[in-house]
Amino acid sequence: MKISINNAHLYDVSAELTLVFALSTDELLHEGVLSELCFKAEQDEICYLSEFKTLYVGVEANEHDLFRSAAATAIITVSKYKYKSLKLAQYDVNNSEGIFSALVEGFLLGGYKFEQYKSEKSPLFLEEIIFSSRTLEDEHSELALLEAKLLHAQICANATNFARDLVNATPEDIYPAKLSQIAKELSEQNGMSLKVLGEEALAEEKMNAMLCVGRASRHETQLIHLSYTPKNPVATISLIGKGLTYDSGGLSLKPAASMVSMKLDKSGACAVLGIMKAISELKLPVEVHGIIGAVENMIGGDAYKPDDVLIAKNGKTIEVRNTDAEGRLVLADCLCYAQEKVKSDYIFDYATLTGACVVALGQHTSGIMGHSASLKESICDSAQKTGELVGALPFNRYLKKQLKSDVADISNISNKPYGGAITAGLFLDNFIEKENKEKWMHFDIAGPAYVESAWGYNPYGASGAGVRLTLDWLSNLK
Ligand code: BES
Ligand code: ZN
Ligand code: ZN
Repeated sequence: MKISINNAHLYDVSAELTLVFALSTDELLHEGVLSELCFKAEQDEICYLSEFKTLYVGVEANEHDLFRSAAATAIITVSKYKYKSLKLAQYDVNNSEGIFSALVEGFLLGGYKFEQYKSEKSPLFLEEIIFSSRTLEDEHSELALLEAKLLHAQICANATNFARDLVNATPEDIYPAKLSQIAKELSEQNGMSLKVLGEEALAEEKMNAMLCVGRASRHETQLIHLSYTPKNPVATISLIGKGLTYDSGGLSLKPAASMVSMKLDKSGACAVLGIMKAISELKLPVEVHGIIGAVENMIGGDAYKPDDVLIAKNGKTIEVRNTDAEGRLVLADCLCYAQEKVKSDYIFDYATLTGACVVALGQHTSGIMGHSASLKESICDSAQKTGELVGALPFNRYLKKQLKSDVADISNISNKPYGGAITAGLFLDNFIEKENKEKWMHFDIAGPAYVESAWGYNPYGASGAGVRLTLDWLSNLK
């Protein structure tokens, strides 16, 4: 679908259908008819006036995320019609409130459909969306600025949809080596370098915790290291992704109902790939290393077990008390690898790590954990700007004690049933070197990564959580 900008006033732009966002019912062109139809301009409320070829969508307040959501509602509605072109005004002079970018993202994210496994694909009639560079009140925005914002928003939304496609694919289609192949294609297309470590190389690197998690799988465990290295970068950052292409729970097997949708457990890895795709297209002046632990957690005679003691890459011993707490074992080794191989200014990890995080914050919000208050604050700013929701979960020394083990340096699960998202974060903290504590941030995306019932601009399935937030944060690095 093509999105373009036209310098003419909305009424002079030619298109089959007009879209109007209504903040209130006053001063609308079709006020009388809308009133007869009891249109109240509530958030995401729609009213289609076929005789005027105009679709009205309500927006509760002048906030970019409400426009993002309204754009998604509009595109879902329009995709049921046969119109080929749609026009709308600009709602934010020079995009000062971020509303123009939000509308572009809302169209692309809300219009996303995953139909890879459907024999019949839904027809796509709409070919073009045309923005007027003027508001309904005829205030004008700079065309060049809008063009730049359009390109930026398209790259970010398409990268999010790229991550969604990967997460939505089945574990039969995306297993660790396949994820490596996708990273390879991305590296070739976007001019990045790639290193893949198979099981032999991982053993040489002493990444025993990660290797044990994947031992019962018929698929080889792999570490993917994708690097984007522009000249004279302003900063270097490592992004570590949990890439469990399937999480059955292992011998601590998940109950049948909880296992359904565990293809989502590669969401952290796919977010990292999406971010890498976008930064290389945006050509950001930041050196970025994407490091992915691609593993499948299965059962079998060769499976790792509760009672095993694993030695992680940094030499710490881990008592396994539950094989379903596997993500932290994979991340432990990947965090050690990242710190040994790359001298970074920032280290972020993304993981669908705990059900406890969903209990704590709900299904829409990612948990963020780390030691630097200022880093947390800057991440909250990016969340606010992109409409992603985050909540900071605080570490404390009492919860840290819950990971004590009688047989090894640390246990892979807490000895108490509370604070599970934080104890998982504290587990990872054991694998962060002293000098890197302030550089590290852990994102538990278990809640928003996979959408069970559509919300906002997220249809059923993978959401691409973490991608747009991180891209905004990276774009602000100086
Ligand atoms: N991948 C799961 C976490 C998860 C649960 C993600 C639900 C998305 C939705 C993770 O590997 C896991 O199973 N964690 C356990 C930890 C427990 C054994 C300490 C959990 O959350 O139950
Ligand atoms: Zn698990
Ligand atoms: Zn998992």
